[in-house]
Amino acid sequence: MPRTPAAKPERRAAAPPAPARRLGPHDLYELCAQYPPRDVALLRAIHGRSPRTLGEDFSAGAALSRAWVESGGRAVACDHDASVLDRASGLPGLVTRRCDVLRARDPVDVLFVGNFTIGEFHERSRLLAYLRHARARLQPGGIFACDLYGGVDAYQTGTLDEDRLGPGGERIRYTWEQVTACPLSARVVNAMHFRVRPSRGRAYALPRAFEYDWRLWSPPELRDALLEAGFRHVAFYHRFHHAEDDAGGVHVRPLEPGEPIEEAWFLFVVGRLGRRRGTARRSGVPTG
Ligand SMILES: C[S@@+](CC[C@H](N)C(=O)[O-])C[C@H]1O[C@@H](n2cnc3c(N)ncnc32)[C@H](O)[C@@H]1O
Repeated sequence: MPRTPAAKPERRAAAPPAPARRLGPHDLYELCAQYPPRDVALLRAIHGRSPRTLGEDFSAGAALSRAWVESGGRAVACDHDASVLDRASGLPGLVTRRCDVLRARDPVDVLFVGNFTIGEFHERSRLLAYLRHARARLQPGGIFACDLYGGVDAYQTGTLDEDRLGPGGERIRYTWEQVTACPLSARVVNAMHFRVRPSRGRAYALPRAFEYDWRLWSPPELRDALLEAGFRHVAFYHRFHHAEDDAGGVHVRPLEPGEPIEEAWFLFVVGRLGRRRGTARRSGVPTG
């Protein structure tokens, strides 16, 4: 199984204690599996110009979209589950679409599918249909990005524990479990479990708070599908490693063909449209 749980190796700085409120599964998901400020900066840097509108597909509570609009952009978050989108309603600049991702049509500069959710597509034909749809939503200069994990332990089963501190001083044990894994079908079933010890009151557990049945697409499979869907350039970036300057600016570079990566790796896969007339910039590793 992947050595790092599904999202975020950084440990979040403890927020000041807030009045106690029982944390629900979506609170815990956001605290333990997401770190939107990092991903907003990373996606802006990978885009490379000044992207205005983010599309977040399979958004769940749209944590990334919320951070994007707070940083001065507009966002469209799409999820077919109304209850999760409620977390994102009423924020200026953020539009929510409660529908299948294939029905969201708003044009965007960056379209993102996070936390390995591209694995929701189990058949290549469905993946391809989605990538074609994603490409059609991109404005000139736009990018599609998603993350992947893989490597030596991608098909191992087992659990990984991480501890986090909640906003009210809660001690949270987050367990990422790879329940089943089949290298022949590239299918994995993963679960997220939480145990919460509030600063006051009884501890409680949310076993199997989330479960996923994913296909682990490989980098070349996804690159080939992106090219077939009409993207002109595909590049791979480290999911978590990037440079930050003293002013907090994030600097990224695509991995070179043949460049070594970790034996258990996390990548961003980025598809770009062709160049616009009159723009000379070339980004990413041309592969087609
Ligand atoms: C793993 S969670 C989202 C992760 C989130 N993108 C992140 O970065 O942490 C997957 C979400 O996708 C939604 N979903 C699954 N299939 C969908 C579809 N075909 N169209 C829209 N939403 C879908 C589910 O309701 C769920 O909220």
